[in-house]
Amino acid sequence: MSSTEIIVNGVHHLVDADDDTPLLWVIRDILGLTGTKYGCGEGSCGACTVLEADEPVRSCQTNLSEAAGLSYTTIEGFAEKPGADACQSAWVEEEVSQCGYCQAGFLLEVWALLGRKPEPTDDLVEKTLNDHICRCGTYPRIRRAIRRAASSRGGK
Ligand code: FES
Ligand code: FES
Repeated sequence: MSSTEIIVNGVHHLVDADDDTPLLWVIRDILGLTGTKYGCGEGSCGACTVLEADEPVRSCQTNLSEAAGLSYTTIEGFAEKPGADACQSAWVEEEVSQCGYCQAGFLLEVWALLGRKPEPTDDLVEKTLNDHICRCGTYPRIRRAIRRAASSRGGK
């Protein structure tokens, strides 16, 4: 075991864990940031999504050794991202969340989508919805929240 440096929400950490420890467990169990969720552990559900730089990654599929020296944002640091407030407000206005378990992953994914595509096509929105699993079936509300957030950020 060796120490590995990672940056999470702007804070540098030296993590003592095996190189193959999933980033998800580093974030949750070692750093105590429990907003990032475990769903499938196989890269399929999106509950564990975090941002690496500005790109969504599945932290259950990222080993500590792969994360060395990189900078991540979890839902706890999301508010500091430019344009995050548009997504957060849209989520509140559309009353998206039910149990909330999947929502951190969705929010980070949607924020990244709107950064790349301020006016996402219906196909892109559906792909985003299909890439994440919400057991509570909040998809229609997420769909509306994406459009609301896009509109308030200057898209349509
Ligand atoms: S827990 Fe990582 S994708 Fe499901
Ligand atoms: S809000 Fe419950 S799993 Fe999505």
